[in-house]
Amino acid sequence: MSSVDDGIGRLRNAASHFLSVANAAATAARSVAAPVTGPWSRFRQWLKLGLPKGLYARALLIIIMPMVVLQSVVAFMFVERQRSLVTYYLSSAVTQELATLIDVYKSYPQGADRAQLRRIAQERLGLTVDFLPETQLPPPGPKPFFSQLDVALSDEIRKQIGLPFWIDTIGRSSILEVRVKLDDTVMRVFVRRADAQGFNSWIFLLWMVVTSLVVLTIAILFLRNQIRPIVRLADAAEAFGKGREAPNFRPRGAREVRRAAAAFLEMKTRIERAIEQRTTMLAGVSHDLRTVLTRFKLELALLGDSPELDAIKKDVDEMAGMLEAYLAFARGDLGEQSAPTDIAAMLEELKADTERHGRSASVAFHGQPEVTVRPAAFKRCLANLVSNATRFASTVSITGHRDHRWLTVTVDDNGPGIPPPLREDVFKPFLRLDDARNQDEGGTGLGLAIARDIARSHGGDIALGDSPLGGLRATVRVPV
Ligand SMILES: Nc1ncnc2c1ncn2[C@@H]1O[C@H](COP(=O)(O)OP(=O)(O)OP(=O)(O)O)[C@@H](O)[C@H]1O
Ligand SMILES: [Mg+2]
Repeated sequence: MSSVDDGIGRLRNAASHFLSVANAAATAARSVAAPVTGPWSRFRQWLKLGLPKGLYARALLIIIMPMVVLQSVVAFMFVERQRSLVTYYLSSAVTQELATLIDVYKSYPQGADRAQLRRIAQERLGLTVDFLPETQLPPPGPKPFFSQLDVALSDEIRKQIGLPFWIDTIGRSSILEVRVKLDDTVMRVFVRRADAQGFNSWIFLLWMVVTSLVVLTIAILFLRNQIRPIVRLADAAEAFGKGREAPNFRPRGAREVRRAAAAFLEMKTRIERAIEQRTTMLAGVSHDLRTVLTRFKLELALLGDSPELDAIKKDVDEMAGMLEAYLAFARGDLGEQSAPTDIAAMLEELKADTERHGRSASVAFHGQPEVTVRPAAFKRCLANLVSNATRFASTVSITGHRDHRWLTVTVDDNGPGIPPPLREDVFKPFLRLDDARNQDEGGTGLGLAIARDIARSHGGDIALGDSPLGGLRATVRVPV
């Protein structure tokens, strides 16, 4: 027995050591982080508040952010540069055609309406050429704010032709207009915008966005499958903490998650085995002692009646009672399954029991009464508290309250209460304060120890305090 207790003690020591180390690390981290104030800490604060809390959302963000940044940079650097380069090449080519036409016009005599030149321009170059009767260029039109085409075409005309000119590249129309002042006339040329300007990049961008969306959808689906085992592991650990089973839990997912799950399962088995070993061992010891005690009683009975023996008999009876209680506890708590239980009805039953003992009792419950607990164990926990109150007081009040996280049951009485320094001690097994108060009615001193054990195995605890009724208030709190 001592080796099991030693083992549990060591586990507990290791856990508290781990907690203290973690606390120290956290304090150190805080003290290192503390001197950093100003914009950096404000940024971190903002990051902390602004970042999503869930792993799923965070992982998605980690995937999406680089993708968006990368694509934006690629789109800007590659597409825009390419486009402006192509625009320069095309403008240069169009200007070469214009220069050729002007050279032909100047070098070879033309008919009155320059029909030959216009035909060649139209058929061979796809340019619509007119020769206007006026000899002046119109005043320069408004320049577009930022147009590569306008800049590139103007540059090229200035470079290659070197005559006064006027261009109109504004508007969404597919035709550009260029006028060049010649000696006796103004040549007007209509150029198709597509001949002078680089391709439009919106199709490229559309493709990029669509592909990104497809890739993202696939990433989201895969990611969800990766996160699910972690969520399951968290659920299983939570259920175990509340003393419930997670029957379908199996290690799944990525290697690291699988390892964590396997480690959790192993730890769970070890803890369960340690608890079971302790309980069966104590049950065994109690059982053996009971056999000896029974023999003892028999021998005492054979010795007949005498005042000296009465005291011994009373002690033996008390010892038998203690063992009986312990055996009941050790037997009763093994293997009970959690189930949704109507706590309000349970409290009503406890009230009826109290009234049967001739005490006045009241009960109240707030919230949804159905809670998943181990019903018999949880009832024994509450019954122990209520029976204590019944023993010491004339009025008992039981209140249940359930919210989204906790089920809280309070048992108030108007008895003598327990002085604050002793409130932790009374949870120790076999400890009774009764001796001074009422020697005959004393129990075994196991009630509160058992109640706390049950509350803790549900992931909760019991606290003692002052009751508004004047006596003791016992509060049980378990997670729902
Ligand atoms: N409501 C209460 N008012 C005053 N004292 C109490 C109250 N509840 C418990 N105590 C004190 O705490 C001690 C321990 O209580 P506990 O329930 O563990 O043992 P017990 O009631 O003596 O025995 P058992 O419950 O096993 O029959 C009791 O002996 C009693 O002195
Ligand atoms: Mg008791």
